[in-house]
Amino acid sequence: SLENDQLVERIEAVRKQMGPELLILGHHYQQDEVIAQTDLTGDSYKLSKLAADSSDCRAIAFCGVHFMAETADILANRPEKIAQRDGQRVRVMLPDLAAGCSMADMAGIQQIEDAWDELSEVIDTEKLIPVTYINSAASLKAFVGQHGGIVCTSSNAKAALEWAFQRGSRVMFFPDQHLGRNTALGMDIIEEQMPVWDPFAEELGGNTEKQLEASKVILWKGHCSVHQMFKPEHVAMFRKQHPGIKILVHPECPRDVFELADESGSTGKIIECVEAAEPGSKWAIGTELHLVNRLKQEHPEQEIHFLSPVVCMCATMYRIDLAHLCWTLENLAAGTPVNTIEVDEETARWSLVALERMLEVH
Ligand code: 13P
Ligand code: SF4
Repeated sequence: SLENDQLVERIEAVRKQMGPELLILGHHYQQDEVIAQTDLTGDSYKLSKLAADSSDCRAIAFCGVHFMAETADILANRPEKIAQRDGQRVRVMLPDLAAGCSMADMAGIQQIEDAWDELSEVIDTEKLIPVTYINSAASLKAFVGQHGGIVCTSSNAKAALEWAFQRGSRVMFFPDQHLGRNTALGMDIIEEQMPVWDPFAEELGGNTEKQLEASKVILWKGHCSVHQMFKPEHVAMFRKQHPGIKILVHPECPRDVFELADESGSTGKIIECVEAAEPGSKWAIGTELHLVNRLKQEHPEQEIHFLSPVVCMCATMYRIDLAHLCWTLENLAAGTPVNTIEVDEETARWSLVALERMLEVH
C-alpha cells in the first residue's frame, strides 16, 4: 500500500542516517513487511546469540515480544560488553510495549517464589533445579540464576534438562508445561505422569505430597495459546487426505499432537527442515501462521499446509507493524528515544548467570 511504501522510505532514511549503529532484529513470527525491514532474523536462541555477539551497534530495535527484548538488553549490556564500548550501553527498544507473551504472563515471580517455599516443606529444594523457558520475565530468569538453574529455549531444552540432572535430582520447569513434558518424555529417564503445578490451587499446586516426592520433573501450568489450538484430529485429517504428508510441529504443541508428529523443533529448526527437503515434499506445519505462510511463499516447489482449520496467530507478535517500527526509529534518530527496555541491574546480573548457561549448552 501507499502508506506502507511511505513508512518503508522513512525507515530507510533512519537506517541511512544511523548506519551500523542501528540493528533491527526480528523473530520468525513477525509479519512479512516487518521481516523485510530487519537486518537479521532468528528463533529465540539465535536472536539471543545475535544480541550477545553484537559489536558495532548502539541501538537494537527488537521486532518480537517483551521477554526477547529484555533478554537482548541483558546480553548486549553485560559488563564485559559495556567495558568494550567504553561504558556505553546498547539501547534496546520494543516498537510496541503491548507486545507481551501470554505464556510468559502465566508465571509471575511471586507465584514461583511461593511454589518454591511450599515445595521446600515436602522435598529437598537443594537438589531441585529450576529451569525456565526463555519465554518468561527477567525476574524469573534471575530467580533461576540464584537457585543454580538454567534458561532454555525450544532448541536446547533437552541439553538444558541434561545439564540440570547433572546437578540435581529433580527439575522444576516453567512456564510451558508442553515444552517441559515433550522434552522430558524424549529423555526416557522420566515417568509418564509428571505433576503439574497450578499456582491457583489451594495446596501444593494441586498435587499430593506423594506425587511430588515420586517425581523427577515438576511442570508448571502454563501454555502457549497459539500452539494449544493444534489438535490430534487435525493430524489425522491431513494424514487421511494427503498420504505421505509429514507433520512438523513446534514443541509448544500439546503432548497428544506432538507425539503424532514426524518432526519437531524450534522455529529455526522448522525452517531448516523445509529448506532441506526434496521438491514435492508435503508438510502440515503446526506453528504460528505468519511463519507457515512465509514458508509456503518461499517454497512453491513444496506443498505446505497449515496444521489447523482455524487461524492460530500470535496477537502480540502481530502488534509490531511498520508504523510502530517507523515511529520508534524516527524518535531514536531525533534523540528522543521511546519504548526502551532496560532491565534493572540486580535482575540483569542474576538473569545473566542463567542465560550464560543457556548459551553454553547447545
Ligand atoms: P522459537 O522461535 O525459539 O522456536 O520460539 C517460538 C515462540 O513461541 C516464541 O515466542
Ligand atoms: Fe508467547 Fe505463544 Fe506468542 Fe510465542 S507464540 S510469543 S509463546 S503467546
